[in-house]
Amino acid sequence: MKASLSSILISAFWLAPASTASPLKGASNRDTPGPLPAVSAAGFHDVVTAHSIPMRRQKLAPSATHPALQRRANFPARLRNVYDVYYIIDLEVGNQTIPVSVDTGSSDTWMVQEPYECVSFWWDGPGTKPNCGLGSGFQGNLSGGIIPDLPPFVRSYVDGTFVSGFYGRENVAIAGITAHNQRLAIVNQAYWHGDGQTSGLLGLAYPYLTSLDGSDQNQPPYDPVFTTMWKSGAIDPVFSIALSRSEDQGNRTGRENPSSGKIEESYLALGGLPPVDVDEATWARTPIHGMMAVPQWGFETDEKGMYIIKPDAFVVEKKAGSKSSEDDGAVVTRNTTQIPVLIDVGATLSYLPKAIVNPLYAAFDPPAQYMSSGGLFYAACNATIPRFGVQIGESTFYMAPEDLLRQTARDPTGEWCRVGVTDTDTPPHVLGVSFLTNVVAVFDVGKSEMRFAARNKY
Ligand SMILES: *[C@@H]1O[C@H](CO)[C@@H](O)[C@H](O)[C@H]1NC(C)=O
Ligand SMILES: *[C@@H]1O[C@H](CO)[C@@H](O)[C@H](O)[C@H]1NC(C)=O
Ligand SMILES: *[C@@H]1O[C@H](CO)[C@@H](O)[C@H](O)[C@H]1NC(C)=O
Ligand SMILES: *[C@@H]1O[C@H](CO)[C@@H](O)[C@H](O)[C@H]1NC(C)=O
Ligand SMILES: *[C@@H]1O[C@H](CO)[C@@H](O)[C@H](O)[C@H]1NC(C)=O
Repeated sequence: MKASLSSILISAFWLAPASTASPLKGASNRDTPGPLPAVSAAGFHDVVTAHSIPMRRQKLAPSATHPALQRRANFPARLRNVYDVYYIIDLEVGNQTIPVSVDTGSSDTWMVQEPYECVSFWWDGPGTKPNCGLGSGFQGNLSGGIIPDLPPFVRSYVDGTFVSGFYGRENVAIAGITAHNQRLAIVNQAYWHGDGQTSGLLGLAYPYLTSLDGSDQNQPPYDPVFTTMWKSGAIDPVFSIALSRSEDQGNRTGRENPSSGKIEESYLALGGLPPVDVDEATWARTPIHGMMAVPQWGFETDEKGMYIIKPDAFVVEKKAGSKSSEDDGAVVTRNTTQIPVLIDVGATLSYLPKAIVNPLYAAFDPPAQYMSSGGLFYAACNATIPRFGVQIGESTFYMAPEDLLRQTARDPTGEWCRVGVTDTDTPPHVLGVSFLTNVVAVFDVGKSEMRFAARNKY
């Protein structure tokens, strides 16, 4: 199955040595976070951290292609236009502010450097001016210089786009935590189709993925930004993410929730929890699995690379109040097969096996239908929406109706809305934004586990 893997996921025959040999350092010198205990019934001790940064939710025009998708060549090309939202933070690089999209499915952090070359090709049409749609990039030289004797940084993608450049070192800061002299990739040539909001990508996955580089995909791994941060002792080896589903076109102040009076925001939080309301009784934990957990990838290592979990069950339930009252809340299917899924903030939809998703489509009233024009399943925008839950530990996290049937993603007639879960029997299976907007997700690299809690309705 190796041939089906993306450029970054082509299995190495020679397995790079682990870079994670150094034990987790105590966080004795870390800043004292806000004293908001979040000790749940299940006995977890996460606290809200002072090191949270708001993320801006950005909606993409249907034709634009999300950078995290471009990276991920192993998705079928027909799914290319499903990346209609992504999340942005302002990264402090040296003394400059660079907007980047946030991705938990890759590990490199890269950005363009001014002036960079944007190229176009004949297939863009004669006389087309190159337009990469990248925001302004890093200016001047990196304080830590260029790293000598490394192969160039090159990422190329199924849709023909690519970025290339080199590795250098600079201080990178997020929410008051600095990764000193961080290795990052600087791009000076690109063939790209962005929407002008970002100038690069922040990769939050494990060091292992950085080894899958170069022609042999076997470079020595390096510590990505988040790894450098926790190894310095500045934070515990934990980050967490809360995604809001409300639009926030670059307005950093967020929006007031009319029912709760709270500002709803998306956050990336370092070392603890983001400042959002969760249902404490729902905290659940599950281990993070190594690359081997997805057999189709062909890895022979159990090294951790991405945030792969195995939910305990997927459940489809009839909506309470549906026509035949004996069906109220009835479980349609409950699949307890342990399927490896990526937790991926870089994916708009969730991707699950047909055996799980087909009963969900059928449970819409009227049932969801495949639309060849959109290449995905759609249901009437006014359909009765079933309940769909992902069980992790003792808790079942239900996707909100607005995530299951996305009123903002319509077909050209305006009557059909996109279902937030899509079927694929080709791994990786993914729980993306359509799931993550319902929870706070804690990525605990130190304990090799993920924790989730349901967000209180916002
Ligand atoms: C940013 O840092 C560079 C290199 O250290 C320095 O030359 C420049 O003056 C700084 N700019 C600002 C606005 O501080
Ligand atoms: C960057 O480095 C190059 C080569 O070392 C040098 O010629 C150039 O003046 C530097 N640019 C800035 C803005 O410091
Ligand atoms: C940001 O949102 C707030 C609250 O909705 C609003 O008052 C403010 O004008 C917005 N700012 C910008 C720059 O759009
Ligand atoms: C549960 O899902 C798995 C994975 O797709 C599938 O192989 C299996 O047949 C499903 N089980 C049931 C009872 O539908
Ligand atoms: C849903 O909308 C369609 C038109 O888009 C309409 O014909 C139909 O009656 C509506 N169904 C319900 C249950 O409101």
